[in-house]
Amino acid sequence: MPKVRVAIAGIGNAAAALVQGVFYYWNSSDDDYIPGVMHSKLGGYRISDIEFVAAFDVAKNKIGKDLSEAIFEYPNITPKFAEIPKLGVEVKPGPVMDGVAEHMVEFFKPAETNISLEKVVDELKSSGADVFLNLLPVGSEEATRFYAKASLEAGTAFVNGIPVFIASDPSGYWPNLYKERGIPLLGDDVKGQVGATILHRTLTRLFHARGVIVEETYQLNIGGNTDFLNMTVEERLHSKRISKTRAVTSILPYGENLEKEGKVRIGPSDYVPFLGNIKVCYIYIKGRSFADFPVILDVKLSVDDKSMIAGVLIDAVRAAKIAIDRSLKGPVPEASAYLFKHPPTQAPDDETAKQWFEEFCLGSSS
Ligand SMILES: NC(=O)c1ccc[n+]([C@@H]2O[C@H](COP(=O)([O-])OP(=O)(O)OC[C@H]3O[C@@H](n4cnc5c(N)ncnc54)[C@H](O)[C@@H]3O)[C@@H](O)[C@H]2O)c1
Repeated sequence: MPKVRVAIAGIGNAAAALVQGVFYYWNSSDDDYIPGVMHSKLGGYRISDIEFVAAFDVAKNKIGKDLSEAIFEYPNITPKFAEIPKLGVEVKPGPVMDGVAEHMVEFFKPAETNISLEKVVDELKSSGADVFLNLLPVGSEEATRFYAKASLEAGTAFVNGIPVFIASDPSGYWPNLYKERGIPLLGDDVKGQVGATILHRTLTRLFHARGVIVEETYQLNIGGNTDFLNMTVEERLHSKRISKTRAVTSILPYGENLEKEGKVRIGPSDYVPFLGNIKVCYIYIKGRSFADFPVILDVKLSVDDKSMIAGVLIDAVRAAKIAIDRSLKGPVPEASAYLFKHPPTQAPDDETAKQWFEEFCLGSSS
């Protein structure tokens, strides 16, 4: 089986969990139901077929380091849980653009780099990357578009892990560019394994399926890593709120009205440093049931946020390689609906989206 050669932009805590995860599961058998990853083998690709070939960041202390070392550099806090050999992949500088918010400068310590598109494209091409994975901080609109352009120029599939609307671009601009160039595009904004979004979607669907009208709902999230610190500035959250909110309201036929009436509030809520990578999520749903009696649900979920994304990314990069193998062009809705919060087409997780994804992996949907 050929390798799945992956380049990453943004060597933060999510990348640290992903890179280690590949080595943690290196010897997993093909048929095992393994904890933490939804598919030990996907479309013929084992987890150990994932190979990291290029990496980009802006932090002075990460640039120039081997990827196996850079993932443990400040301010990353993902603990070491796997032995990783030296990968021979040096972290290269990317352009800062809007990747580093003012309040994050003292944490990310960006180098003053002025990196051209050509340089990043050359790096991608010479690395032989099949898939370019975007893991920049929330709010990196311009920088994400830069890396998306680089993927188009280099001919690598793009997996957009963050809430900048590329695969789900409502204007169709980005989806069309990928279609024209014959390159697969997956996104946007990874949906954690058993994270706040999937839990909230599932509970909302349960209310609806059992004939209870959802009248109001919120989902508040707190955490203590740079991802949460970055998201304390509301201006950076515009797309994140849309992505997380639509992921839930799209489950209900009247979800949009609920939003318009101001009965939905979903998003990152505060930075609590001592939580580290632990994310705590509070979900509240108030419903109207038989004879207008209320149903009130309060749920608290506590997870290691980065472990929640890494397992899904392991599937996402392999799905992108499967799309390349099948010469798929442009957005891949069959894979994106299951793996991302804001895909081009939303579908219920437990039935439609899962079925689309499984059929896609087996090759029966393309
Ligand atoms: N469960 C989850 O963790 C989850 C789920 C969905 C989406 N995401 C998103 O994934 C992204 C990555 O999360 P994380 O925890 O690794 O973030 P992080 O804060 O740990 O890391 C971000 C990295 O991006 C780098 N960076 C900033 N600007 C850059 C640029 N212009 N070019 C290259 N690198 C740049 C920073 O130096 C840092 O190393 C975030 O946007 C997060 O919201 C995470």
